[in-house]
Amino acid sequence: MGRALLPSPSNGGLCILSQQNWTLACDDRAQGEGRILHTKVPDLFSMAKAEHIPATFLHILKLPQTIVLLLGGPLAVILVSGSWVLAFVASLALLAALRFLAKYPWKWFVAMSLHTDMSDITKSYLSERGSGFWVAESKGQVVGMVGALPVKQPTLQKQQLELLHLCVAPEHRGQGIAKALVRTVLTFARDQGYGEVVLTTSMLQHSALALYQCLGFQKTSQFFSLKRWRLISLSQIQFTYCLPSAQVSQALEQGGGL
Ligand SMILES: CC(C)(COP(=O)(O)OP(=O)(O)OC[C@H]1O[C@@H](n2cnc3c(N)ncnc32)[C@H](O)[C@@H]1OP(=O)(O)O)[C@@H](O)C(=O)NCCC(=O)NCCS
Repeated sequence: MGRALLPSPSNGGLCILSQQNWTLACDDRAQGEGRILHTKVPDLFSMAKAEHIPATFLHILKLPQTIVLLLGGPLAVILVSGSWVLAFVASLALLAALRFLAKYPWKWFVAMSLHTDMSDITKSYLSERGSGFWVAESKGQVVGMVGALPVKQPTLQKQQLELLHLCVAPEHRGQGIAKALVRTVLTFARDQGYGEVVLTTSMLQHSALALYQCLGFQKTSQFFSLKRWRLISLSQIQFTYCLPSAQVSQALEQGGGL
């Protein structure tokens, strides 16, 4: 039996979402969910980010500048010292440095998030109207999560809600949990009067890219948000979902859409 905790649109409290194995229903135990929000959610979040490290390492290994470095570095050592052993050690040291480089952006992102919005989920996501945090559970374990915060940019033409930290535990993937969580955010955004839902992911998160495209998000930009991402040619991709007006979405709902 799976369940997901979702905020009631009126007060940002927590509710339970289930579908098939799940049911959709509001839950008034919001205050009792601290254990979930403060221990299990950060664990799942950290684990989901760490799983991108091998793909990032492979991505770095395939970069032209890395190939030059991996061939040229040890060759230079052989030419200078004449030692194959030293060249082998240099290769290992280079690989270790590249592995660290692959790990660094993700570890940095987790540390930064756990010190900012994720340090107190109740305060960041559940204390104000217009934001929310959803947690999918199965047999007492947190198996999925997603957050949403308003984008605070006064120049925006449409009110935007940013979807953040979507992830599902590996053993529960392919069951439609992420789809259900994202759809819950879309419905929440529409009910709250937002015009768009935006999110940022990376070019290496292939499952996420497929998920957002299959749900109707449009790719709006591709960029390097920070030097550390540019250094390893790992671009971020922004997606936008334009929410239909209330009347159109009512018609869509009747027709099986959002
Ligand atoms: C991306 C992620 C959340 C998907 O979770 P999930 O519960 O397995 O996704 P769902 O079962 O709801 O799949 C929904 C759709 O996403 C796409 N999708 C999901 N995983 C996919 C994969 N491995 N390959 C291709 N498409 C995939 C499919 O279109 C799928 O629809 P379908 O089953 O009708 O084909 C999960 O893989 C994950 O947590 N990844 C690590 C964290 C991450 O990258 N988060 C994104 C942050 S921006």
